[in-house]
Amino acid sequence: MTDTPTHQTWIILGASSTIAKAFTRSVAATGAHVILAGRRMDDLNASAADAKARGVADATPIIFDARIPDTFQAIIDLAAAQSGTLNCAVFVGSMPTQDAIDADPALVDGTISDSFTGPARFLQMLAPVMMARSCGSIVGVGSVAGDRGRVGNYVYGAAKAGFATYLSGLRNHLGRHGVHVLTVKPGPVDTAMTQGLGQQPFMTTADAVVADIHNALRKKRNTLYTRWIWWPVMTIIKLIPEPIFKKMSI
Ligand SMILES: NC(=O)c1ccc[n+]([C@@H]2O[C@H](COP(=O)([O-])OP(=O)(O)OC[C@H]3O[C@@H](n4cnc5c(N)ncnc54)[C@H](OP(=O)(O)O)[C@@H]3O)[C@@H](O)[C@H]2O)c1
Repeated sequence: MTDTPTHQTWIILGASSTIAKAFTRSVAATGAHVILAGRRMDDLNASAADAKARGVADATPIIFDARIPDTFQAIIDLAAAQSGTLNCAVFVGSMPTQDAIDADPALVDGTISDSFTGPARFLQMLAPVMMARSCGSIVGVGSVAGDRGRVGNYVYGAAKAGFATYLSGLRNHLGRHGVHVLTVKPGPVDTAMTQGLGQQPFMTTADAVVADIHNALRKKRNTLYTRWIWWPVMTIIKLIPEPIFKKMSI
């Protein structure tokens, strides 16, 4: 979160996500205004009511579908009408199993839209509004899966890699205009997305991820691995020579 004393607004993209809900609860407690953007209005209404009970200045549910760019402009307009500091946190993403994608290659398009191109296009539209105010933060949630293409989920990984590269360039651009961009790379988190996958290594919770995000925002970090152990783990995984890596099933 930015540390300016002005009125804070957070656009929360993918507000029905488990991690987004934990994030919404955390910013609600600070009295910010939250714009809850997602596909399921019933769920967004419930989150808005919960945020109001926790002390938000206001909570506005609004439709956002990463695959329908026509839903983007109304959110930008709503955000632009708010005074003070604008911030945006992106939690949108989908992870069909690699087996499902192998059986239906059309799932590639949706996976890339949900986790990369939809959010990137939205942020591209939002960027001028934030630049004009010379403040605010963007939190983009990628994944450790984007650090190297693995046999088990390389389409999702490719989408997250694309999004992380996009965020790196956006940071380079917006950093010159006073806007902070934080790339978050979680390992496995106990959420709807990981239901049915069984126990995963270094599994964490949505609340722990959100606490790490706020810590990274305070320190104006560029990239956050959460849990922290994923930074050395992924550093090693990225160093494995390709002739060896291509035979591994990690
Ligand atoms: N859980 C993990 O282990 C893990 C690890 C690394 C990174 N991440 C990332 O963390 C973020 C949050 O995920 P989560 O773990 O909280 O899982 P989640 O509860 O399944 O959240 C995924 C969110 O993405 C939304 N979404 C998917 N496609 C969309 C579309 N076309 N338009 C709008 N919204 C769409 C879903 O909306 P609906 O509710 O409408 O389906 C849901 O709100 C995702 O970007 C995910 O890739 C998660």
